[in-house]
Amino acid sequence: MTLANPLMTASGTCGYADEYADFVDLTQLGAFVTKSITAKPRAGNNYQRVIETRAGMLNAIGLANVGLDVFLAEKVPLLAALALPVFVNVAGTTVDDYLAVADALESVDIVRGVELNISCPNVKAGGIQFGTDPEQVRLITGELRKVCRTNILIVKLSPNVTDIAAIAAAAVDAGADALSMINTFTAMAVDIDTRRPVLANGTGGLSGPAIRPIAVYMVHKVYTQVAQAAGVPIIGMGGIQHAHDAVEFLLAGATGLAVGTALFVEPGCLMDIRDGIGDYLDSHGFASVTDIIGTLEV
Ligand SMILES: Cc1cc2nc3c(=O)[nH]c(=O)nc-3n(C[C@H](O)[C@H](O)[C@H](O)COP(=O)(O)O)c2cc1C
Repeated sequence: MTLANPLMTASGTCGYADEYADFVDLTQLGAFVTKSITAKPRAGNNYQRVIETRAGMLNAIGLANVGLDVFLAEKVPLLAALALPVFVNVAGTTVDDYLAVADALESVDIVRGVELNISCPNVKAGGIQFGTDPEQVRLITGELRKVCRTNILIVKLSPNVTDIAAIAAAAVDAGADALSMINTFTAMAVDIDTRRPVLANGTGGLSGPAIRPIAVYMVHKVYTQVAQAAGVPIIGMGGIQHAHDAVEFLLAGATGLAVGTALFVEPGCLMDIRDGIGDYLDSHGFASVTDIIGTLEV
């Protein structure tokens, strides 16, 4: 699949697109990635679900979403207006949940890919345990591979593991077309007056600039140890806010780039990043973004 440019939204940070329609021209993106969709609607966790931290944010949304039926009936027509490839992030608590959603998405024209969220740290049942054990990753990726007949299958990796390359290898072995990385780091903020966690869920996922150097490191590790040899593209994310950040990810081995937390600060940053990458390519004498992917020398 060829995208007009590498930029896309990070799942869960731009809803189903209509929420941001007044702020940014999303038609300029390479692709749109939706909030996680589950088979049934989910109310998510109790409030407080989001808190700003130094150089980032913690969220424990708990996969609140409209569910598959409402997504298909109400959100797909809105997304169709973008005229972009749409990647639908799919979540669930059982393998059958994932299969039901992914199977239904096969017949939706604008949907070109399924992003398998096996890495959400903010739900009590399911969620992250699929994504932290290579055997579980192999199993669920293999099952999803069977239903993703026309849609590309992107497996989204959790950074909350000892060896992310081992998880990536399991996903690639089981048939992932692409990897996206990284999801948020499990973290906690404390209200020192109440002596309780700030988030109702107790823990949340840390995102934003604070995690960027770790995300770049992990992308490079997975690129050099797994993805490059397998010819599997990586969608890099984690704290991208400026063109400089995006170029770091490209040099480290990412082919696509997703922006999440930065949208809460400046939705228009997506276009600035896209234009800034172009400026970098021009000033360094590269004809195309593909010329710099994975060219980091270490
Ligand atoms: C408020 C919020 C909600 C998120 N919801 C989801 C989600 O539903 N599914 C998912 O796979 N990732 C979700 N994420 C993770 C992001 O897609 C992304 O992997 C992570 O935030 C790192 O990128 P960033 O630093 O640019 O935000 C969410 C992140 C935030 C901040």
